[in-house]
Amino acid sequence: MTDRATAPFSIATDGIDPALVPQRVLASGARMPAIGLGTFGSDRVTPAEIAAAVRGAAEVGYRHFDCAAVYGNEADIGRALADVMARGIPREALWVTSKLWNDRHAPADVAPALERSLRDLRLDYLDLYLVHWPFPNHHAAGVTVDSRDAHAKPYIHEGFMATWAELEKLVDRGLVRHVGTSNMTIPKLELVLRDARIRPAVNEMELHPHFQQPELFDFVRTNGIEPVGFSPIGSPARPERDRTPDDSVDVEDPVIVRIAQRLGVHPAVVCVKWAVQRGQTPIPFSTKRANYLANLLGAVGEPLTEAEMEAIAGIDQNCRLVKGQVFAWKAGQRWEDLWDLDGTITPP
Ligand SMILES: NC(=O)c1ccc[n+]([C@@H]2O[C@H](COP(=O)([O-])OP(=O)(O)OC[C@H]3O[C@@H](n4cnc5c(N)ncnc54)[C@H](OP(=O)(O)O)[C@@H]3O)[C@@H](O)[C@H]2O)c1
Repeated sequence: MTDRATAPFSIATDGIDPALVPQRVLASGARMPAIGLGTFGSDRVTPAEIAAAVRGAAEVGYRHFDCAAVYGNEADIGRALADVMARGIPREALWVTSKLWNDRHAPADVAPALERSLRDLRLDYLDLYLVHWPFPNHHAAGVTVDSRDAHAKPYIHEGFMATWAELEKLVDRGLVRHVGTSNMTIPKLELVLRDARIRPAVNEMELHPHFQQPELFDFVRTNGIEPVGFSPIGSPARPERDRTPDDSVDVEDPVIVRIAQRLGVHPAVVCVKWAVQRGQTPIPFSTKRANYLANLLGAVGEPLTEAEMEAIAGIDQNCRLVKGQVFAWKAGQRWEDLWDLDGTITPP
């Protein structure tokens, strides 16, 4: 009997041929699958379950995986990726992203952090390495939103560019194919674009029907930066500590529910379809085969109608879910201060 983990790789009979999955062409000319699997289990889903989802997702046709050192599961995911490659998926067919955590921004820490991610993921290069947050402020996994790093700092552009220069060297060394940003704002990106030797290929940003960020979305696309959308379903299972009373629920929105009923799918799939069709690359998280398969099918299946796309454009609530409170750098700050809402970088 052949063990499932060592059997030669073939796409599951109900899976999707990866060649059918829409691709984004980056400024470099590289092609990135326009849907990826998220891998942040928070404190709810174990690394082993996520690694199993990575294997299963590869079997149904996913080739894009959104990882991060801080998710604490790259070693498990690395074993899963090694399995799928041993069974015949070539490395070049995969798109693997990882992220530099906030306590590794010091220039001397960047290469060791990347090398650790590569070792854990069992890869000799990454397709994309992101600076996870523009703030060099650490917080431990699972802390409450009112905890603060005693040495917390604001965004200091010179500091960020010193970190960025180290990412650029990783590209020079062939360890990273593309570099990118995450959780950025327009004024911060303007400075990065002014000063970077290698421009960000991607900006990973929160994007779902109730948080469409139209200005930032347009800004990055106009500047040849691909938007990758995190929490594309509105992160319905995020921990209680990450919820506030004003948060709205995308998958309960009547517009989304009505379209889901027409298509006979879960509202989550409508969020994914909208994202792919709008032009961002969603990275939905799921460890349930039926759900991650439904999301991939959604990305390749019947498009939403123009009227449906317009209806979803009209339900934006400007409802940011990942507020980043823990990164505030001084007492009494509001989470809004992290996001440069008046178009200028919040002063120290
Ligand atoms: N750059 C950053 O700072 C940042 C921040 C947050 C997240 N991310 C990335 O973005 C990824 C996704 O975001 P997220 O995990 O916050 O939330 P999300 O993808 O919006 O939502 C995930 C939730 O939706 C459910 N779900 C997924 N597909 C479904 C379907 N077809 N039907 C019903 N339910 C479905 C999942 O439940 P089941 O597991 O039960 O299916 C899971 O609870 C993360 O995993 C991470 O990789 C990045």
